[in-house]
Amino acid sequence: MATPVILDCDPGHDDAFAIWLAAGDPGIDLRAVTTVGGNGRLAHTTYNARVVCSVAGVTSVPVAAGADRPLRRTLTTAESIHGANALGGPELPEPTVAADPRDAAVLIRDTLDAATEQVTIVATGPLTNIALFVRIYPDRLSKIQRIVWLGGSTGRGNVTPYAEFNAWVDPEAVAVVLGCGVPFTMIGLNVTHQALVTPQVLGRIEAIGNRTAAFGVELLHFYNSTYETDQGMPDGPLHDPIAVALVARPELVTTVRTRLDVELLGTETAGATSVDLIDKLGRPANADVATGLDVDGFWDLLEAALRELR
Ligand code: RIB
Ligand code: CA
Repeated sequence: MATPVILDCDPGHDDAFAIWLAAGDPGIDLRAVTTVGGNGRLAHTTYNARVVCSVAGVTSVPVAAGADRPLRRTLTTAESIHGANALGGPELPEPTVAADPRDAAVLIRDTLDAATEQVTIVATGPLTNIALFVRIYPDRLSKIQRIVWLGGSTGRGNVTPYAEFNAWVDPEAVAVVLGCGVPFTMIGLNVTHQALVTPQVLGRIEAIGNRTAAFGVELLHFYNSTYETDQGMPDGPLHDPIAVALVARPELVTTVRTRLDVELLGTETAGATSVDLIDKLGRPANADVATGLDVDGFWDLLEAALRELR
């Protein structure tokens, strides 16, 4: 039985692969895609989600735009990694997938209302849309199975020494979602930096030979070049599809039940995710945090899903 999923994202090169994994894996029933300002401005992330779906032939999943800025802070995008249009590299084809006229929160509400079972929300960008949904539709939270978030880290950050980008853009949203009572899973950089786009990985994807894989390889060449320049990593970490992989094949990702908090006030540490792995603070556990990845199994899963697409 496939798991019903709503994917909230900010495409973004790795978000594109999260969309494709969610659409191509038989264990996932992708019900909706919502977009948020993050890697790029909302207009770009929404257009890019439409392009990514169009390229892969994912034409029956509604795509709706959400928040164009964080709850309280000013949006700072990740242009140094994803480019000015947030999907740098290939020439983007005109999307055949239209934007759904609903706002992201309304699409999430309607998707939950239409479901006969609980739905999993996978979020691969800042948590602004999810936080807004929690505030606007608290009566719908019981329809959410759990929230699986690609963000944070049990260690160092990537946009400041201690903050990962999705958490740093909107730490207030992380706090709202953490406090809403829906089961929460965090997959951070401590795990995602094991999923590196090496020449071998590029070769595997290129060998798939369909349109989606060819477009994806162009994305990854750009992504690896900017990751080398910006982060000193010539093989870029493909973060976001790991969040989908955890839902599709839970055994691929090791998690621990622990205490997770987010720093809101720190001058140098705002957005840092504080993971109390050895229970020094004695606070009640509130999240499942990823600590390990079956890297080979992950690439096998992603390759198989890409083969299912156009
Ligand atoms: O820090 C990595 C995360 O931030 C990924 O989700 C990437 O797409 C960006 O959104
Ligand atoms: Ca993302």
